[in-house]
Amino acid sequence: MTEVAPVQSWETDFDHAHPDYNANAHEIWDQLRGKCPVAHTERYGGTWLPVTHEDVSAIARDTEHFSSELVIVANRPPEEERIMTKPIGPAPPITSDPPFHQHARRVLLPAFSPQMINPWEDEVRRLCNELIDSMGDADVVDAAVQYAQHIPVNVIARMIGLPLEDSDYFREAVHTVLENIAAEASVRVAAVQEVFQYLLKHVEKHREQPKDDLIGYLLNAKIFDQPLTEQHVVGTIVLLLIAGIDTTWSAIGSSLWHLAGNSDDLARLVAEPELMPTAIEELLRAYAPVTMARVVAKDTTIGECPVKEGDWVLLPFPAANRDPAEFEDADKVIIDREFNRHAAFGLGIHRCLGSNLARLELRVAVEEFVKRFPKFELADKSAVTWSLGQVRGPRKLPVRILERS
Ligand code: HEM
Repeated sequence: MTEVAPVQSWETDFDHAHPDYNANAHEIWDQLRGKCPVAHTERYGGTWLPVTHEDVSAIARDTEHFSSELVIVANRPPEEERIMTKPIGPAPPITSDPPFHQHARRVLLPAFSPQMINPWEDEVRRLCNELIDSMGDADVVDAAVQYAQHIPVNVIARMIGLPLEDSDYFREAVHTVLENIAAEASVRVAAVQEVFQYLLKHVEKHREQPKDDLIGYLLNAKIFDQPLTEQHVVGTIVLLLIAGIDTTWSAIGSSLWHLAGNSDDLARLVAEPELMPTAIEELLRAYAPVTMARVVAKDTTIGECPVKEGDWVLLPFPAANRDPAEFEDADKVIIDREFNRHAAFGLGIHRCLGSNLARLELRVAVEEFVKRFPKFELADKSAVTWSLGQVRGPRKLPVRILERS
């Protein structure tokens, strides 16, 4: 992992790849909201960080001035790489701008509808119980390493039609793309090209032996009556791996982290399991894992702040979710919060397409964990570690099991 220079100030020199950023994200955003609601850093060639709900929402909805061509703030790939993938971007639809975006999105929507996702519930439940069984009767288990990280990768690999035994490889590849952002662009470009080659092999296998999975689905899909290009098919699979793995793993981990540190909320969920769907929305609001990015497409302003074509802008949906101007008691986790139009899944045309799957995995993972372990606590607060970069969640989460059922 490429280390970054110490941060001099979160207002003028922030770095989302610095280990202190995600570890203290809520405090940093709160501080900025009061003093400097559009922070800036010279790093990565110049990056803005708006932290109010109003600014994040306005940018997410303004596709004329803010492009999704690149959505991870990192050292940029060379210009030729970027030109090669236009207009669809390297990972459609998340990297596609209008007008192409709506076509790329429409292709995927049916595959993630409730009718397609709900039948996976029993499988997810079985997987969660298998993971818990494999923990044996240890007093301390790592809820991130032994549990959360395995659930999304297992489900999305099977949905896409990729071998489960390659799960470690997928997690490693996603880690390079999302976390090793301070590395030279060539390191990340090489990692992505390797994943492309790996996926191309599987696409070829699917062409020879058609299968009823997401690769098969994409090979049969059409835009403007034409089959998708190979670049589009593989780019979408890369997106599904990236979007499907770290995000939900982080959401499961943060939810368990909260319950490990808040015994009243845990006891209430054990006593009132019907509260779970409402509690899950609140945990998504309070610990939203995903910050996306945009590239300024035309000079404009964020609030009063002028921004220039080519600048990066981070879109911290999690900070928007903690804005007191939008949510009452924004910093409190209220597991029966009634009014909760949170932005964890984004705002505007790129709103998460996998939210049915994400909610299913998160709900079932928390349900099964609290059912089997009705009492647990953080084993060692200082041993908890957090991810780096735009997807925030615990990566080490040792919890002490106090009761089993
Ligand atoms: C808790 C888990 C998840 C969270 C918090 C989350 C969050 C988000 C957010 C914030 C966006 C908007 C991106 C933007 O504005 O640039 C997004 C887009 C997207 N997500 Fe998720 N996501 C999650 C899980 C998933 C899963 C499991 C999948 C599918 C495997 C998925 C697939 C997608 C896709 C395809 C898009 C792009 C949609 C478009 O560009 O039209 N996500 N997600």
